[in-house]
Amino acid sequence: MSTPEGPSEQGAAEKGSAEQVFADLGRILVIVPTYNEAENVEPIVTRIRAAVPEAHVLVADDNSPDGTGELADKLAANDDQVHVLHRLGKEGLGAAYIAGFHWGLDRGYGVLVEHDADGSHQPEQLHRLLEALRTADLVLGSRYVKGGEVQNWPKSREILSRGGNIYTRLALGVPLQDATGGYRAFRRETLEGLGLDQVASAGYCFQVDLAWRAIKAGFRVVEVPITFVERERGQSKMSQSIVIEAMARVGRWGLAYRAQQLRGLVTGKKV
Ligand code: GDD
Ligand code: MN
Repeated sequence: MSTPEGPSEQGAAEKGSAEQVFADLGRILVIVPTYNEAENVEPIVTRIRAAVPEAHVLVADDNSPDGTGELADKLAANDDQVHVLHRLGKEGLGAAYIAGFHWGLDRGYGVLVEHDADGSHQPEQLHRLLEALRTADLVLGSRYVKGGEVQNWPKSREILSRGGNIYTRLALGVPLQDATGGYRAFRRETLEGLGLDQVASAGYCFQVDLAWRAIKAGFRVVEVPITFVERERGQSKMSQSIVIEAMARVGRWGLAYRAQQLRGLVTGKKV
């Protein structure tokens, strides 16, 4: 695990070019989950397409009442690198991503990216994740490594996020600064090795779940700095029940892991 420093801005220079800068990684699919993101979906898809022209975008919409799904259909009708996965109803971020991953794996994409719709993740920084993926199996966009930052968050949300990461490090012993973030790039082989069918986390602890599985499976997990900007339009779907689910699940995984380590100490087997 390492934190590459000073990611080059070379990818940004490729803006607008049809050149396949990341052809060595295989075809790239950027999955954008949406629930009531009518004001955000077009701007974000446009920015992603401009920032990494070779990437395809999949909007994974949970039948948003505000018409986000229909807006995404219009974008897809005008651009054959934009796709839409219509899901029946709101089932949580984790479920939307898992459906999106299967969609992409079935169609042979080599890289699958997680990307929020609300402007919090900067498409112009996607090349940092992709460059790092050349020597990693999973790249996490990290707010809490050197060079990473959060803009416009209320103090309460920052405390929740930083606290969640400290809790995760203590409970699971993961050497990650930002295990809860949602801007990530996976190699397809990594997703294939994680046991996606056993992932039960619905809400945001899905992120911790996948990072933890990747580390346990021995994949190379790397963090690169990102700038997370709080959304300007629409509302966060973070809720108290999502936080409670995350704390309970991470606590349970931690206890099970510690028990396994203890058994290892007794039997002399390393875990
Ligand atoms: N399809 C679908 N279904 N999309 C959803 C759902 C859902 O149930 N819930 C949220 N989304 C989409 C939103 O529309 C948005 O594009 C993205 O998922 C993130 O949702 P937000 O509600 O904006 O999340 P956030 O800003 O509170 O949380 C972000 O930061 C967290 C860490 O601080 C996300 O990146 C989280 O993954 C991350 O854990
Ligand atoms: Mn958000």
